[in-house]
Amino acid sequence: MNKTIPQTDQINTFSLTNRRILYTGAAGGLGHDTTLALLKAGAHVVGIDNDPEKIAKLQAAAKSLPEQRLNIVQVDLSNTNALEKTLSELIRDEPFDVLINNAAIYPSKPFEDFTLEEFRTVQAVNVDAAIICAKALLPGMRSRNWGRIINVSSITFYGGWENLAPYVQSKGALVGLTRAWAREFGKWGITVNAIAPGAFPTDAEKIHPNPDEYSQYVLDHQSIKRRGEAKDIANVIQFLASDAVGFVTGQTVNVDGGWIMN
Ligand SMILES: NC(=O)c1ccc[n+]([C@@H]2O[C@H](COP(=O)([O-])OP(=O)(O)OC[C@H]3O[C@@H](n4cnc5c(N)ncnc54)[C@H](O)[C@@H]3O)[C@@H](O)[C@H]2O)c1
Repeated sequence: MNKTIPQTDQINTFSLTNRRILYTGAAGGLGHDTTLALLKAGAHVVGIDNDPEKIAKLQAAAKSLPEQRLNIVQVDLSNTNALEKTLSELIRDEPFDVLINNAAIYPSKPFEDFTLEEFRTVQAVNVDAAIICAKALLPGMRSRNWGRIINVSSITFYGGWENLAPYVQSKGALVGLTRAWAREFGKWGITVNAIAPGAFPTDAEKIHPNPDEYSQYVLDHQSIKRRGEAKDIANVIQFLASDAVGFVTGQTVNVDGGWIMN
């Protein structure tokens, strides 16, 4: 008897029909494909990004989809006043169901060369913006007794990489906030989970001087012997944004091809 084997290279769909999603850094290396996957799953996505070229590329890609449900706002997440103003306008239109705190900057140099001001800049984009977004969206989620918050942390929180002190600190903060928010928001039907991507070949990887050597290092450490792709992130984000995870909260899911196991 012939069996139909499901294709494993496709983005799987958990329905997100009419879910309204706020996605920071939506136009980035991992954000681009994930945004398209969320749109295909029926969601309305409002992206926040500050890179006009990447925004234009995402908008062009989204045009090929049957319905236009993408809105990208160009805002610098480190500008608290501008972000708060944008959010208050966005939530006035309609509340959000899902928040994905994904935008990040990742300057790299030895710890003693970072100024405190540089630490604060990383904190502003990678953590403070997430807090501001959560504060703005929480009342809407709470009023409808349903919400999903997904914080994007990093494999670097567990070790393995040098010269990323402010970034690693910020990714640890997101894991801490995931747990704290999960405990506080669970009673309102809101789940809060993090993902920790492994090593994906996006802009973030360009900080490594020898690409081939680095790629081999990654494969040697992963259980799955292929490089990660944006669709691997998209699949897990879709799952965490869906109804399927109503009983999973406070967790950090390692999306790294079986590298970190705890
Ligand atoms: N790519 C990887 O291998 C990897 C590994 C571990 C964790 N991550 C995490 O995954 C997430 C996405 O990473 P990526 O690879 O897509 O990175 P990326 O740099 O391609 O995307 C980040 C996006 O955030 C936007 N952004 C940065 N600063 C901003 C600001 N001040 N205001 C508004 N937008 C801003 C950028 O324009 C960009 O589109 C990040 O949180 C990153 O830390 C990535």
